Amino acid sequence: MTFIRRNRSWQLPDNQVTDENIYRQRRSVLKAMGFIGAGSLLSSHQANALGWFSDDPEPFQQRELVFSPAEKSTDTLTPEQVATGHNNFYEFGTGKGDPKDNAQGFKVNPWELVVDGMVDKPLRLDYDQLYKISALEERIYRLRCVEAWSMVIPWIGVPLSALLKQASPTSAAKYVAFETLYDPEQMPGQSNRFIGGGIKYPYVEGLRIDEAMHDLTFLSVGAYGKTLPPQNGAPIRLVVPWKYGFKSIKSVVRIRLTDRQPPTTWNILAPQEYGFYANVNPMVDHPRWSQARERRLSGSGLFNQDRIDTQLFNGYREVASLYRDIDLTRYY
Ligand code: MTE
Repeated sequence: MTFIRRNRSWQLPDNQVTDENIYRQRRSVLKAMGFIGAGSLLSSHQANALGWFSDDPEPFQQRELVFSPAEKSTDTLTPEQVATGHNNFYEFGTGKGDPKDNAQGFKVNPWELVVDGMVDKPLRLDYDQLYKISALEERIYRLRCVEAWSMVIPWIGVPLSALLKQASPTSAAKYVAFETLYDPEQMPGQSNRFIGGGIKYPYVEGLRIDEAMHDLTFLSVGAYGKTLPPQNGAPIRLVVPWKYGFKSIKSVVRIRLTDRQPPTTWNILAPQEYGFYANVNPMVDHPRWSQARERRLSGSGLFNQDRIDTQLFNGYREVASLYRDIDLTRYY
């Protein structure tokens, strides 16, 4: 998100890194401080090509998933290397390439996802159970970031409702609160505000229960036929395609049913700019930029993009009835 623009003193352009010894020293300081894989001094890809970092963590292993394929989409899929190389995941840094560079050592197994709060049957899922909530399906969804870029991604996962129904929400539950893993040892942005963009961690999000139960609301464990890579929110993340991307919280460890509207990360940080609802809406501009159009990241290069009109609810008109009674200008 472009809300905060800081000079990241730890990020030097590659052309300033002229001497291998100085570079190695910096790298060991960063490691001592816990920034394993701080590849932004030099991308880990470049570094590995030079054979400097044989002590780096093993690259993250993805595996293929079995799923029922999506119906054909008229949108052109975003190439995988764009969707996995241009990310927002501030726990690993605020630059678009930081999550890919800094998250490759991220440990997702063991994992525990808890579903609790106002439910009759609280759940605890371990890593293997994440892939067995119900039959995996593919959904090709548009993802529209509040920063006015967008992609089209073939997610694999299950409707969130499938998991929530297993927990049996009580009639008092009106909202669903989500929380990302808090692990500053693995996520350098959580302990260093310059890396993490000044966010108070863990990252939290929320939905009304009728939004959460809508069939479009998806829990993703994979994309492009495989388990999710860490930069996209491994091992499990939310995908709410009619809302700005910041609602689609990554690497979720807790889902809590509640009777109160839960606090949400970007709303806490800048309430006048980011609301609880965050429905994609070309008629409601961000205070600092228009939301009428978007850059669809398309080709293999990041500069390869089409400018297209943004659609209300990101084109997912089937959710309109959820908002029949509210003023979308006020509840942005
Ligand atoms: N979840 C966490 N925990 N931390 C984040 O910084 N960024 C959000 C969302 N989920 C974010 C997050 C934003 S702003 C967007 S646009 C999407 O993730 C981007 O998802 P992608 O990188 O898979 O495209």
